[in-house]
Amino acid sequence: MCGIIAYKGTRKAADILLDGLKRLEYRGYDSCGMAIISNNRIETKKDVGRIAEVDKKLNFLKMNGNIGVSHTRWSTTGSVTQINSHPHLSCDRKIAVVHNGVIENYTELKKELVKKGHKFTSETDTEVIAHLIEEDSSFERACLKTFKKIQGRNAFVAMNDKGEMVVAKNGSPLVIGIGSNEYFVASDAPAFIKHTRKIIFVEDGELISLGNAKDQEIRFIDTRYSKDLKKRIQEIEWNVEEAQKGKYPHFLIKEIMDQKKTIMAAATQDYDKIEKIADMINESFGSFLIACGTAGHAALASSYFFSKIANKHINHMVASEFQSHYHFLTDKSLVIAISQSGETADVLEAVKKAKTKSAKIVGIVNVPGSSLARQSNYAFMTNAGPEIAVCSTKAYTSQLSVALLLAYAAAGKMDEGVALLKQTANLVDNMLNQDLQNKTKQLAKKLADKDHIYVLGKGFNYPTSLETALKIKEVSYIHAEGFASGELKHGVIALIEKDTPCIVIVANDDTKQDVLTAALEVKSRGGYIIGISPENNEIFDYWLKVPDAGNASPIVNTIPSQLLAYYLSIERGCDPDYCRNLAKAVTVL
Ligand code: F6R
Repeated sequence: MCGIIAYKGTRKAADILLDGLKRLEYRGYDSCGMAIISNNRIETKKDVGRIAEVDKKLNFLKMNGNIGVSHTRWSTTGSVTQINSHPHLSCDRKIAVVHNGVIENYTELKKELVKKGHKFTSETDTEVIAHLIEEDSSFERACLKTFKKIQGRNAFVAMNDKGEMVVAKNGSPLVIGIGSNEYFVASDAPAFIKHTRKIIFVEDGELISLGNAKDQEIRFIDTRYSKDLKKRIQEIEWNVEEAQKGKYPHFLIKEIMDQKKTIMAAATQDYDKIEKIADMINESFGSFLIACGTAGHAALASSYFFSKIANKHINHMVASEFQSHYHFLTDKSLVIAISQSGETADVLEAVKKAKTKSAKIVGIVNVPGSSLARQSNYAFMTNAGPEIAVCSTKAYTSQLSVALLLAYAAAGKMDEGVALLKQTANLVDNMLNQDLQNKTKQLAKKLADKDHIYVLGKGFNYPTSLETALKIKEVSYIHAEGFASGELKHGVIALIEKDTPCIVIVANDDTKQDVLTAALEVKSRGGYIIGISPENNEIFDYWLKVPDAGNASPIVNTIPSQLLAYYLSIERGCDPDYCRNLAKAVTVL
């Protein structure tokens, strides 16, 4: 996954592009670059490294001009080198391209182009776009032909030295910002919301021509039916502050602390719509909850909510495995897809497959206007605001909140669900205090040199154990594994040695005694027990106190681990916002 930002208007493009790149850095950060039209020629600067490093070396702001494209890369095709960084140019250097995605047929296309005499400089698939466009003297027509030729999930922005700019998308996200006499194009709206909140979402198969330098006309073309489109301008509600760190040193801690507000925001829904979906859930048959990663853990937790609160069985499946199971779907099935970004390729692919079986799609999604929000028959926004840190925190607890509300509504107890969530929002606001931060920081110091951390949970908090382990792995690179506490005796206990840290999540519910029994077995083999629980217990060597939130326990129980993961990453000198090898939204299959 990569980040694209392009600008065409009357202001200094480099200012806007550099700022936008920094806001998109979470999408990829192994190299970056910029191309700007200056004195009727395309000037390009690019290199390997984080944006601030590359900028220090190349000084992007020295480039003058009002039209440009830029890119922050997370390599898929071609290694991380200066040459492979975007933008890529045509042979005559009059066309510059930035791209997100994978061109599946690029080797064939490259062979044909080489035969025709095109000289390639990089190992990337992207470069074929620039050379294909060079094949036709009409820029817009050339982009259209190129778009039709390339296969796979792709989005690109191309410009020529005359200032014509074309945007095309199939699979990877792109959004256009409309300013006064200016256009912005980006992979994600926070890249430019500082300048405009008027946006148009680009749909798959669309190509947008931003005209030549003088002509500021914007034209939308549906490439599948070769016809012009009229598109609706929408106003995005997110504000600039929400997409900034503010007083915090990292986005991760800022977003953990945001949970003081986001549970309440998630609880604020159109309750009539919730009731309607609850009826659909109750009438549905052979339904699935699907998602990936952290959202996948929210989907698993939701299956427990529906089972225990609403007495309704809904299958849980990670989206990438759905293709082996979707044949069970019928027009009576409901697919509840959960995604922060709404752009995860595995989720969108699963939704596409479900639609072929006429199943209805309910999306639980954070990014307004994202592909999942648009492709769902019914979409619930989690209202967590922009989540920038690569690892997901506040979006997770918001996903749990919306799912909990749906489960209560399906049980015919909507008011009870709303009351529980509002009470949980207050509990979270109170628990995110200095005391909990100090205790998790102190624990992080103790655990920072460990090679393994294990996590046990049961029932509602089995998914919490998986999520706890994932958070620790992602930001501190310590190996961590979550297990259902009952599985301990079936193998996991072999891993326990003296001082092996084991986090046990002990909720005040019918799973309490089983988890404590498992903790005791670990302790008797010398394990170091960290209890996350409303009450202390003599088994615990270290206790992280959480409030008793009843059926909302997975929401409160996950928060200490988010803090622990954050402080572990600081202790170990990692960057908590940019996890090694990871990108925020995975838009490739
Ligand atoms: C983990 C994390 C990922 C995402 C997963 C799905 O912290 O962020 O595991 O949860 O890639 O992403 P979305 O929710 O955007 O579909």
